[in-house]
Amino acid sequence: MEAHLDIQPLTGSLGAEIRGVDLARPLADAVLRDLRRAIIEHLVVFFPGQELSPQQQKNFTALFGEICQLPYIRPLDEHPEIIAVLKSPEERGISTFGGTWHSDFTFLERPPSISVLYALEVPPFGGDTLWANMYDAYETLSVGMRGTLDGLCAMHSGHVYGAARPPTHLKTSTSMDISRNNTEADAERAHPVVRLHPESGRRALFINPVYTTRFEEMTEEESAPLLHFLYGRATSPEFTCRFSWTPGAVAVWDNRCTLHLAINDYDGKRRLLHRTTVQGERPRSVAGRASELNATCR
Ligand code: SIN
Repeated sequence: MEAHLDIQPLTGSLGAEIRGVDLARPLADAVLRDLRRAIIEHLVVFFPGQELSPQQQKNFTALFGEICQLPYIRPLDEHPEIIAVLKSPEERGISTFGGTWHSDFTFLERPPSISVLYALEVPPFGGDTLWANMYDAYETLSVGMRGTLDGLCAMHSGHVYGAARPPTHLKTSTSMDISRNNTEADAERAHPVVRLHPESGRRALFINPVYTTRFEEMTEEESAPLLHFLYGRATSPEFTCRFSWTPGAVAVWDNRCTLHLAINDYDGKRRLLHRTTVQGERPRSVAGRASELNATCR
């Protein structure tokens, strides 16, 4: 059966808007198949004008796999699978949740595959979110650089929730109940720098400025110049898309091949979204090795 989804790509790199589907209702198999295909093709898809109860958001998210309960962030009391991404009007001059380029919780052994973000309250302007295409970031590198990166692992840690590093100069949001100073969050975990996507079969860079600390067996100082170069490549304007939220809009993205960043330009306004997150698999290197095979990912 044809699903007849209306899919409009937003840029030449990633992102598409999808109309003609009500995410609050059970989806026909053909629709779900086409949605999955659209996420593989466009990496992040947007559904304006939805109306989802927390349970309906969970039902929709579970279509993509097991919903994970995230460490360190206090979820909704009634729905431990949902976190409220909130900045309130009185919070000025603070850093916001998701305000630096990242892929969700890459320090976990099985980092999230899909995330679903549903907008409840948004500022009249500002508060957009950016996504970046990590396939393009990889594929536009030279053959020599790709070959070098294919064999590398990088270390990831949840140090922003940890105790080892000095706090940043910016105050962080108090609207969200985030637990910090957790010593286990400082532990590093190795994942391949170039990740083989299990569904598309494509290679994507799998590093990010929030959770990646260094290349394996290199110091942070040694790693920083190359990481910095790669982040610059990954977030080149031509590899990004930008979404302006309206109440009821839903974004669904694939963390295995994208980065994202919430733009913090709406001091004095309230912004509230609900996020659900799907547990992913252990990242596989291009040699087909999963990062759990050894303590390190070699
Ligand atoms: C996130 O990083 O999940 C939040 C993104 C946003 O608030 O736009």
